[in-house]
Amino acid sequence: KMNTFVSGLMVKMTLDEKIGQLNLVTIGAATTGSVVNKGVEEKMKQGAIGGVFGIWGVKNTREIQDIAVKNTRLHIPLIFGLDVIHGQHTIFPIPLGMSATWDLGLIKQSAQIAAKEATAEGLNWVYSPMVDIARDPRWGRISEGSGEDPWYGGQVAKAMIHGYQGSSMKSNDAVMACVKHFALYGGAEAGREYNTVDMSRIKMYQDYLPPYKAAVDAGAGSFMSSFNTVDGIPATGNQWLLTDVLRKQWGFKGFVVSDYTAVNEMESHGLGDLQTVSALALKAGLDMDMVGEGFLLTLKKSLAQGKVTRAEIDLACRRVLEAKYKLGLFDNPYKSMDEAKESKEVLSAENRTAARNISKHSFVLLKNDAQTLPLKKGGSIALVGPLADNQRDMLGTWVVAGEWQKSISVMQGIKNLVGDNVKINYAKGANITDDAAFMERLNYFGQQLVTLDKKPVDELIEDAVDAAKKSDVIVAVVGESQSMSGESSSRSDIDIPESQKNMLKALAKLGKPLVIVLFNGRPLTLTWEDAHASAILDVWAPGTEAGNAIADVLFGDYNPAGKITATFPRSVGQIPIYYNHKNTGRPYTSGPTKFKSNYLDISNDPLYPFGYGLSYTTFSYGDVKLSKTKLKGNETLTATVTVSNTGKYAGEEVVQLYISDPVASISRSVKELKNFKKISLQPGEQKEVSFAITTEDLKFYNTQLKYDWEPGGFIVQIGTNSRDTHQASVWWGK
Ligand code: IFM
Repeated sequence: KMNTFVSGLMVKMTLDEKIGQLNLVTIGAATTGSVVNKGVEEKMKQGAIGGVFGIWGVKNTREIQDIAVKNTRLHIPLIFGLDVIHGQHTIFPIPLGMSATWDLGLIKQSAQIAAKEATAEGLNWVYSPMVDIARDPRWGRISEGSGEDPWYGGQVAKAMIHGYQGSSMKSNDAVMACVKHFALYGGAEAGREYNTVDMSRIKMYQDYLPPYKAAVDAGAGSFMSSFNTVDGIPATGNQWLLTDVLRKQWGFKGFVVSDYTAVNEMESHGLGDLQTVSALALKAGLDMDMVGEGFLLTLKKSLAQGKVTRAEIDLACRRVLEAKYKLGLFDNPYKSMDEAKESKEVLSAENRTAARNISKHSFVLLKNDAQTLPLKKGGSIALVGPLADNQRDMLGTWVVAGEWQKSISVMQGIKNLVGDNVKINYAKGANITDDAAFMERLNYFGQQLVTLDKKPVDELIEDAVDAAKKSDVIVAVVGESQSMSGESSSRSDIDIPESQKNMLKALAKLGKPLVIVLFNGRPLTLTWEDAHASAILDVWAPGTEAGNAIADVLFGDYNPAGKITATFPRSVGQIPIYYNHKNTGRPYTSGPTKFKSNYLDISNDPLYPFGYGLSYTTFSYGDVKLSKTKLKGNETLTATVTVSNTGKYAGEEVVQLYISDPVASISRSVKELKNFKKISLQPGEQKEVSFAITTEDLKFYNTQLKYDWEPGGFIVQIGTNSRDTHQASVWWGK
């Protein structure tokens, strides 16, 4: 039906109209480059635009759709996109935080709510999920992904795509997902944004490509190409990537859009002039050109000169029209543009309740000496730090439509929960940063996102110390502000900024319980904090309900259960650092260090390993019991552990399954995550947790890039994080 419809429409289309469908323009907000489109209305009337992004709201989108539907020759509707990354108006934790929930149901729910709010504002296409694997926390966009694990990244991608697209994209509550950034964007050298990526094919297939593949399997409607090169050719013009891998190997049936002016940027990559790179991109399998208008300006000429074919233009146009068809836009171009739905859905009480719940599930307790947390709902606290009485930085990076003015500060959240029962002694204590050059970069495009306090730095610290002296416990809310992570926010130093650290140092000298509530869009180096704070609660950037969710956890109404999905290094010098590394020929384990793979000045191990996170209670793990120790072919192995709650609080635990393959035809990772289960246990309760393991879990890409398993011995490991596991061995023959 779709084919017939689209073919019928294409018969009526001129070449210009077909090329017009490949043109995506930005109107208004959400620009992440220096180029913005001009003459949009005129072009729209000529049928020279296929989609728009950067606007939202029923009134705005309807006005624009009217131009396409009422004033063009063929009345082809526009597709409306936006960067809805972790919520539209009700903002959820940044994706790195969301992934720390290890709760695919909650992750899916966040996407469903985002889709409801986005459709209520006339949108039908979201530039999410970002599934780029990142092993380098200097890279600011690590905040927008699910961390370092390829398998888990795929699980999160699936949950989000199902949440966005529902069972039919024709539904009024569904949007089309756009999986980004294809591919390997997270592999930027030195963690520097937009930098070169270069890696072996095995590493691509084994460690970086799986989440994109999982997204195809989950039925994602569209993909966005990345800015970087892949094997020397920019992804946006890379035929091997966009056609051979994505479509031929994986069977992707949707359309591919470029990133913002990525076609034009192939000129800077050194691939030729605009006409050359536009032709290259189309031939490679790119269907839609975001903002740069290379397709619009050059494809007709390239066709006349035989540099592209009519069939190539037709194919790209067909894919864009098919997306509109799948979304039901030809049935109703104004689908879900309905003011009543808009006012009912956007930031509804129900959505905010869900956001509060999801946020608290994303928090990771990194340290909790002497059960400093939870706090008593009585006595006094010194609430200090530049993020303590702050709404602006609650939402985190990539929030286009969400308003920070609607967010709950930590101060407000605590007051909402404990009222007058707890005396709060507040002091700002420090600027986000005192470094003028850093601040200027954080305030990009002339915005006032981070400002200096009128008070001198010493006085700010004195205020915090005074507040602390009057209080039973210190709660320091510190870390990264909103613009410190995300796109174009790479850092070479991933400490808490010095201004804030100086305040922490002054507070630590008082010898009072010091709780750090940490805001961060990336793993930070927290060696000093780990040594000096009594407790550290990592809250990422929690979103609209930040303060309420933080209060729930600080005062024990909810027992934190999040686990980090990206390794926290001890020092920047250890980066890239990730749990599923190779053994090397000279692995360092213990004993003398010379001529082993290690550093002279620091240990190899991270401060907090992948999968790590504490609870107010404690869990103990029994031995790993295997249903068999020798298996053949397609038999299933069951691995079981008993997990007990040995503490005083009810709590949730993420039980993680890793497998090692110590001998194979290639050097394998020391271990790989294969599954997990999140369980709840009352104090004193114990549960048996079982995992079914098949040869699917043993497969890897060999030197021929064949995905298969090899017979031999395997080590099954189950534990509370990637470091602390119990293990048992098994032999698996063909
Ligand atoms: O979706 C984004 C992408 O992640 C980075 N560049 C701009 C795009 C559109 O805003």
